[in-house]
Amino acid sequence: MNPTIRSQFATTETYAYLNSAAVAPPPKAAIDAVLFQLEDAAVYAGLRFGAWVDTKKRCRSLMAQILGCRDEQLAFIRNTSDGFASIANGLEWKAGQNIVSFADEFPANFYAWRNVRDRQGVELRLAPERDGRIDLDELISLIDADTRLVAISSVQFASGFRSDLARIAEAAHKADALFCVDLIQGLGAHAYDLPGLGVDAACGASHKWLCAPEGIGYIYLSDRARELITPTLVGWVSVEDAWDFADREQNYKPNALAWETGTGPSALFYGLEASLKLLIEADLKKVEAYLDELSEYLCERIASKDYEILSSRKEGERSAIVCVRHKGGLTPNEIADRLEQEKVLVSPRLDRIRIAPHFFNNKEDIDRLIDALI
Ligand SMILES: Cc1ncc(COP(=O)(O)O)c(C=O)c1O
Repeated sequence: MNPTIRSQFATTETYAYLNSAAVAPPPKAAIDAVLFQLEDAAVYAGLRFGAWVDTKKRCRSLMAQILGCRDEQLAFIRNTSDGFASIANGLEWKAGQNIVSFADEFPANFYAWRNVRDRQGVELRLAPERDGRIDLDELISLIDADTRLVAISSVQFASGFRSDLARIAEAAHKADALFCVDLIQGLGAHAYDLPGLGVDAACGASHKWLCAPEGIGYIYLSDRARELITPTLVGWVSVEDAWDFADREQNYKPNALAWETGTGPSALFYGLEASLKLLIEADLKKVEAYLDELSEYLCERIASKDYEILSSRKEGERSAIVCVRHKGGLTPNEIADRLEQEKVLVSPRLDRIRIAPHFFNNKEDIDRLIDALI
């Protein structure tokens, strides 16, 4: 977006790093912040416990700002998968109910529901991929009076398809179902207004578009979702007065904070805070517009090559993830390996390669990719 942002990312000195949908590199500010915490802890250790908790609280406020929610609706957990598992385990299920989702969701947003299917006699209804898209009419047609939950990614990991969350939320709520979203491929490339969109629950993690170190997950629970979902993985921090060690019959916190069970990765929160500040200072609206421009440039340039674009590029459906397939039958692994030799990084996914530029990339990175593609 600008040279100052780019200079925060050491990878740009070596690679055309177009792989933020896998793991994004943390900026220098995040690495400095992590090291600061570790060096501080080396001297002061537990004396700084309060400062570590305050850092986590500031992270929560920054995250709440880009999710449009209240701080206490957001908890930090281990990763996306844990978030979905805790939703699946915390709901009451009845045999005969169903869950509606998409067949090619990343598995973090599948096994939790498969478990419910296998243990509770709940049906899993999965809409198939159609030409790199989810046909939302088809997905919505799977929802009926027995639907308990609809689960979808805001942006699909293997196609970049961006779902119209408000439309799905409306259909889910008509059936009195909960609407649950995997945000990991969206948040950081886009900001959200989760309450405004009608999302009941959302999960994600730090290491993709948020450009923070790996190791911090998050879960958002609307007030309605919190009433319906019982905290099942609980610990000493889950209760209303965690420091009252004597009262063992306390209530769990009445909001998402009951999902925070014990001590967290303090150093990583220092990193997350620095990454969030960088993104917020860059302005997520501007980041989104920049990524739209960069991915459009990529699509224009790739037209001269022997590749078909698989991702929907329609307004409202496109994202920063562009997936392409070689028309001549080169496998995704062959392409990704060859690109890696040329210091261009992308991911092979299913039958395609996934190209995912972020705000530290520029048009020269795209040109390097085009030049290196066979
Ligand atoms: C859509 C999606 N959800 C979740 C994950 C990761 O899940 P977790 O945070 O549990 O590792 C990924 C990728 O790794 C993903 O693409």
